[in-house]
Amino acid sequence: MKRRDFMGTAISATVGAGLAGSAKAQAPEASASQPSGGPLNPLAAELPPSGFDTPLRFDAQVDDCLVVGTIPEDMDGAFYRVGGEFYYPPLFPDDAPLNADGYISMFRIKDGKAAFRGRWVETERFKAQRAAKRQLYGYYRNPFTDDPSVRDPAHPNRRTVANTAPLVHGGKLFATKEDGLPHLIDPNTLETLGPWDFGGGYKSQTFSAHPKLDPVSGDMIAYGYEADGLASDSLWVYRIGADGAVKSEVRTKVPYVSVMHDMALTQKHMLFPFGGYVTSMERLQEGKVHWGWDPSKESYIGVLPRDGGPDDMRWFRGPLRCMMHTFNAHDEGDKIVLYAPFWDGNFFPFFPNVDGSPFRPELARAFVRKITLDLASPDDTWTEEILWDTSIVDLGKVDPRVLSLPTRYLYTSFADPSLPFDSARADPPGRGPPVNCYGRFDLSTGEVQQYFAGDTHALQEVSFVPREGGSEGQGYLVGIASNLAEDRSEMIIADTENLAAGDIARIILPFKLSSQVHGVWASAKELPLT
Ligand SMILES: [Fe+2]
Repeated sequence: MKRRDFMGTAISATVGAGLAGSAKAQAPEASASQPSGGPLNPLAAELPPSGFDTPLRFDAQVDDCLVVGTIPEDMDGAFYRVGGEFYYPPLFPDDAPLNADGYISMFRIKDGKAAFRGRWVETERFKAQRAAKRQLYGYYRNPFTDDPSVRDPAHPNRRTVANTAPLVHGGKLFATKEDGLPHLIDPNTLETLGPWDFGGGYKSQTFSAHPKLDPVSGDMIAYGYEADGLASDSLWVYRIGADGAVKSEVRTKVPYVSVMHDMALTQKHMLFPFGGYVTSMERLQEGKVHWGWDPSKESYIGVLPRDGGPDDMRWFRGPLRCMMHTFNAHDEGDKIVLYAPFWDGNFFPFFPNVDGSPFRPELARAFVRKITLDLASPDDTWTEEILWDTSIVDLGKVDPRVLSLPTRYLYTSFADPSLPFDSARADPPGRGPPVNCYGRFDLSTGEVQQYFAGDTHALQEVSFVPREGGSEGQGYLVGIASNLAEDRSEMIIADTENLAAGDIARIILPFKLSSQVHGVWASAKELPLT
């Protein structure tokens, strides 16, 4: 693994093709290696009858899981995962996998034991199609393509599938997706209790997939884009207290309507990155998937002071990137430093280029980027450094105790092709090497410590479990390893400070889990766990 000239000159222009990155990583959200042309969605047209990607399609419960190794006694909480799979096949074979029905699962960890539970997120949409016993909903975020029995373009948030991320705040558990309100979930039974508008104080039709939790104040910063209707340029930002009540709202506009999947937070500022994806009411009325990719666009990062109003947003502009997730950000005097695993270009082949050009898989590569925004400069641009040449999965985490604060460690997964992979035993036979490592990327020293999952295992997104009383970086990395040889899933637990030693425990399920999009650890102090 190579470290890029770590303290070297910033670059702000072309990156990608010339880098000595490792094999392209594949995120669980989607695969960048799907061929262009033909169905891009492996679950499209018909559900696969066999293989590791066969849908789970059942609510699951295992009260006392098989454990290999020793679960640390100081782990008392739950690892929640949210993902999706189509309960019924999608109506359109080229639809986005991001349109799959939400599924939430949990590993309850206590006293060295583990119990598993998994359930569908029972949204209005899920219940309607289950009652009809068929798929009723069309393209990803395009209600014009829905069955007439449920078509309602004036209320697009009624068709959310809540399939993106678990969220824990104010003693409550939610399942989120950025096209609707969060769904309140019982943290023990995983029963879906319904959409949640924070006592009526949250007015946006949509909620963020990734709100940010301030470890200092306990506040949650959340937002909705397309806040007041389909393809609208409204961005509404909310501060929600630890008591679950909305403390403030700012209603502002965006330079152009685009995916605003994630944000970043400092102690003084809120950051809103986006770029490339476009939509319009015309596009949707033409019956297309919600997003197209416009290679002619610039990227933007909006900077709004934590106590700012709608006119205080400053939009910085930069070269086009696919800006999906962030690691963390912090203030440094007049500057803001943002760490983010942005992609060079469009990562999602099912969001086609609007100019008709083919999908470019060589641009679907993500790296650890350091982006610096200078608030004192009259120039509304930023500088960007790629800190490691390693091509990574853009699903990263930091210790939640340092969110919005200076950070030493970033965590994410990646494929290390130098490690062994037994393709003959993997399902399907002959498949390419998977994402097989979690890494701790040390911003202070440039060192990367890595955990290897084994020669028949593929890793899903990593999550961080803070060790109580510890400082930044002290805790456990947890995540799901797909055992491709045994067709089952395993939750791995590794010590963040000794990843090279391998996992200290594996919780073995007797079946395979569908891919999560995101997961989060919640301690028993954060939720009323039984
Ligand atoms: Fe996400």
